[in-house]
Amino acid sequence: PESITVGELANRMAEKAADLVKALFKMGMMVTVNQAIDQDTAELLVTEFGHNIKRVSDSDIDIDTSTDVDADETLKSRPPVVTIMGHVDHGKTSLLDAIRGAAVQTGEAGGITQHIGAYQVAMKDKSKITFLDTPGHEAFTEMRARGANVTDIVVLVVAADDGLKPQTIEAINHTKAAGVPMIVAINKIDKPEAKPQKVREELLQHEIIVEDMGGDVQDVEVSALKKTNLDGLLDAINIQAEILELKANPDRAAEATVVEAKLDKGRGPVATVLVQRGTLKVGDVIVVGAASGKVRAMLDDHGKQVKEAGPSVPVEVLGLGAVPSAGDQLTVVENEARAREVATYRQGVLDKKRTTTAPMSLETMFASKA
Ligand code: GTP
Ligand code: MG
Repeated sequence: PESITVGELANRMAEKAADLVKALFKMGMMVTVNQAIDQDTAELLVTEFGHNIKRVSDSDIDIDTSTDVDADETLKSRPPVVTIMGHVDHGKTSLLDAIRGAAVQTGEAGGITQHIGAYQVAMKDKSKITFLDTPGHEAFTEMRARGANVTDIVVLVVAADDGLKPQTIEAINHTKAAGVPMIVAINKIDKPEAKPQKVREELLQHEIIVEDMGGDVQDVEVSALKKTNLDGLLDAINIQAEILELKANPDRAAEATVVEAKLDKGRGPVATVLVQRGTLKVGDVIVVGAASGKVRAMLDDHGKQVKEAGPSVPVEVLGLGAVPSAGDQLTVVENEARAREVATYRQGVLDKKRTTTAPMSLETMFASKA
């Protein structure tokens, strides 16, 4: 058939029809379960859901769902991905810098030569933690709104001399909504006016019960300025990560999410991506949002060239034809022709979305049916 109903496609993909409708809505298409969509749209949807696709003939497609979920035996543990959130001036940047600085001092090779949107810190036991260096709940919610759930653990920074503030509460709400576990870093503990106990009591009002108060949310007193108890914070992250048993299959085509992207004068479009499963390799043909290209080079968080990047590893990717957006999914495809096809299609969808941002009405609903 030239077209397929959303319901039938959902069946073949073993996904909920409602999820397909939702995904189509995000692409700017208003369709119901019983409505038919064309083959290109169906293919795109299948790719978006991470399934493999086979064009059986020009007029039919076959979906291979078997490779979508990685079998248990292919899973290996991966580092946790941590986002730091908190109110303005409570010390998010200072804390990230202090952690990174401490890692450099404990003998991380190379030091910091390059600043990318995420970095990894190696622990004494060689395990790693990935920090997203785009603190603030805006980046977090923006990514989540686009379906990208890259954060495993949120570190909520609260200044001990200031207590809970509006953005602290927003961060708490976003974290709860995302279902991501939280660790509270009570910062600026060096200040004479610091009142850490008051912070714990204020947290109670938002149903955050820290361990000190008999709950199960870890709280750690730190000073980003004096670099006090950074180890305690890293330990807390490791404990939380162990509970989560984070795993991914490193031996497959990579899927990654864009953390940030920019146009670099000398290097062209540069995207910092975080690999979520599989291993991204130099030479891979990729589609990232509506951009496509071939991975020309990859740089790690020290600005060092790398050939591969596995799960939870952040890398800068060079070789894209256009600049993608934060939250865009990176997918490895079989060849450049296919990459351009998907990218062009996505661009079309984006353009359409831009011109159909008017509120939903019966008219637009029926118009999009055509
Ligand atoms: P925004 O990015 O503006 O939201 O702020 P932020 O949360 O990143 O805070 P930032 O790290 O910029 O710190 C704000 C101020 O607090 C700076 O003047 C820091 O020097 C100071 N500061 C951060 N951590 C500490 C600390 O542990 N103790 C003391 N005394 N000052 C701190
Ligand atoms: Mg900051």
